[in-house]
Amino acid sequence: MRAIFKGTILSPISKGKVLFIVPGYLVTSEQGNILEVTSDNPREKYKSFPFYDFSDRIICPGFIDIHNHLSQLPLMGLSDNNLLTWLNKLVFPCEGKFKSQEIAKQTADSFFRQLLKNGTTTTSTYVTIHKQATDLAFQSAKENGVRAFIGKVMMDQEVPGNMLEDTQKSLQDSEELIEKWDGYDNGRLRYALTPRFAVSCSFSMLKGIGDLAKKYDVYIQSHLAESNGELKLIQKLYPDFENYTDVYYRAGILSEKTIMAHCIYLSGKEIKILRKTGTKVSHCPTANRFLASGIMPYRKLEQSGLTIGLGTDVAGGYSLSMFNEMKEAIETSKMINFLNSEKQYKPITVEEAFYLATLGGAKVLSLEKETGSLEISKSADFLVIDYQKLNDFKNRDILSNARNILSKMIYLGNKDIIEQVYLRGKRVI
Ligand code: GUN
Ligand code: FE
Repeated sequence: MRAIFKGTILSPISKGKVLFIVPGYLVTSEQGNILEVTSDNPREKYKSFPFYDFSDRIICPGFIDIHNHLSQLPLMGLSDNNLLTWLNKLVFPCEGKFKSQEIAKQTADSFFRQLLKNGTTTTSTYVTIHKQATDLAFQSAKENGVRAFIGKVMMDQEVPGNMLEDTQKSLQDSEELIEKWDGYDNGRLRYALTPRFAVSCSFSMLKGIGDLAKKYDVYIQSHLAESNGELKLIQKLYPDFENYTDVYYRAGILSEKTIMAHCIYLSGKEIKILRKTGTKVSHCPTANRFLASGIMPYRKLEQSGLTIGLGTDVAGGYSLSMFNEMKEAIETSKMINFLNSEKQYKPITVEEAFYLATLGGAKVLSLEKETGSLEISKSADFLVIDYQKLNDFKNRDILSNARNILSKMIYLGNKDIIEQVYLRGKRVI
């Protein structure tokens, strides 16, 4: 794994700042960690290291997709413009097929392969209610090298009969999967408890999940305030609670290790609870538009101090590409600003979008010491990108600064420009 990689280094520093070194060198250790990121030629210092010349290529950290559903891969591109009918008509029948181990394994293999080809090296994903299928998804992630949080979907109310779980059995299955997989391969694979959303989870199930999360110190992932129809159902199912967030709060499942996806329709009070508990937010702008759910007020949540990352939400979203997700995040933030009369919500910049798709996502997953940027001692999880493909005119000036390169990649890029993908210093694509 020891090696020197030469190329144009592009790595996030903060929401507004990127590291840009031309030419730069990335030096990796035997264990697959980053030894140096430098503009000084290190070949004298590391004489015995193999040298790879990626001049004319970008070297940047792998992307982090903090919310998606691997079981919904076959549904990509199919919307119903309504979350609840889409779940009933398309999602539940599709997820039901994961009873077949063959379908479960094939879909997981294909999902992780496509994810890596899109440059996503770390993810957090939902499987289905099936324990076997979840075990196979872990197996698949084990084989292909991806860094992943994976969880068995939990639901014990308001879903079709074949999708309905016994509360205790669901908790027990989840616990067994935690014991088998959480922390596998030095923490490359982790378990995430996965209550689908409060609509399909009883309060006693949610409380049991909170207890399990504390017992094993594992992550919880779920959905919150995604659509109006969902909010109405919550009011009906949980009439004694102050609001949607209050259900999760009183069940004890909000903490620094909880990721809530969507968070479109939140009151000021709810935002404060998320802040107080340290709950993380997955912004899924593609899915929010595709399912006609709404637009998350990113800047408002960000200014409230919440930690936010990006999720493709496949197949609520139609694409596994984080280039597309960054683009949607920026474009929808322009709409929010446009519609706001006080113009207080500045749109997301390309640097900020890049941060959200990398280091920001790592922070959501508490992995910022391990991955998310090219920094000394972090894992060498990186991409080699042929950005010259984005510039037909051979006009080198256009691609001579970080902002232009990022902008071209975000708006014109797709998986075709990703040539190589490395995890822990080892090439996986
Ligand atoms: N809310 C509950 N389940 C789901 C799901 O599978 N996808 C999305 N986008 N929202 C949900
Ligand atoms: Fe989702």
